[in-house]
Amino acid sequence: MELLRTASELHRFLAGARARGAVAFVPTMGYLHEGHVSLMREGKRRAATCVVSVFVNPTQFGPSEDLSRYPRDLVRDTAACEAAGVDALFLPEPGELYPPGAQSWVEVTEVSQGLCGERRPGHFRGVATVVAKLFALVRPDVALFGEKDWQQLQVIRALNRDLLFGIEVVGCPTVREADGLAMSSRNAYLSAEERQRALAINRGLGEAERLLAGGTRDATALCGAVREQLRAADIREDYVEVADGATLRPLSQVAAGQQARLLVAGFLGRTRLIDNAALQG
Ligand code: PAJ
Repeated sequence: MELLRTASELHRFLAGARARGAVAFVPTMGYLHEGHVSLMREGKRRAATCVVSVFVNPTQFGPSEDLSRYPRDLVRDTAACEAAGVDALFLPEPGELYPPGAQSWVEVTEVSQGLCGERRPGHFRGVATVVAKLFALVRPDVALFGEKDWQQLQVIRALNRDLLFGIEVVGCPTVREADGLAMSSRNAYLSAEERQRALAINRGLGEAERLLAGGTRDATALCGAVREQLRAADIREDYVEVADGATLRPLSQVAAGQQARLLVAGFLGRTRLIDNAALQG
């Protein structure tokens, strides 16, 4: 596996790689877990070459968020990429992606609204901007993103379409711990007791899915099932919402045949966790 630190090293690597076939790309912020690894494996299945980036992107963190304490472990991340069969790991310095004087931003105006976009002002502008920069540098054939960050996935799909990148954007299912907790780099912040309480999020999603299967289509009732679990586990709700899976516009009902999504964000102490589930109407 090649370790690439600059755009010119990346370009030299890609010139050779493209001659061998398609290039897959998995952008990450590191502290890699099985969720990230599942994207790398899917990348290797779909392309001859898989490139992973690790870059903790400062512009997607708010002023009171966890940029400075975001977990980092480059030694472990390198080993995880190597074990997954990744061909190149791109590790840019901030100055490589944000040149001095940088003043250009990518704004995805509609699917960035509501949910995490509303609670984390500027977050998706930072995500869309850095992903556009990485797409421009790597110019992959395929890029892989997790459904764990459902709204982010829709933001990337819109950006890829609107800015004419022509990349095949692939969404991959959420990888969970054996007990159902969605894997996240931020799970490292949880105490043992918080880790146990965090299970209520996935339990709530499961309750709502069962209600829908039993014929409950009302969003308030479906969200109520999640809220009940959050309350019992003393998780502070950031949002619980039923939205259209593609547009992310809020729904009051899940219509027959509709591809809806139930999205949750909550705080355990200072740690903010998100999760979501399909609501197939
Ligand atoms: P990060 O949180 O490191 O996630 C990188 C990718 O892994 C994202 O596509 C995310 O959805 C996916 N992922 C995370 N947890 C997952 C899980 N449990 N199952 C499946 N996939 C999972 O998301 C980001 O970084 C950044 O916003 C980024 C897109 C890299 C831009 O900075």
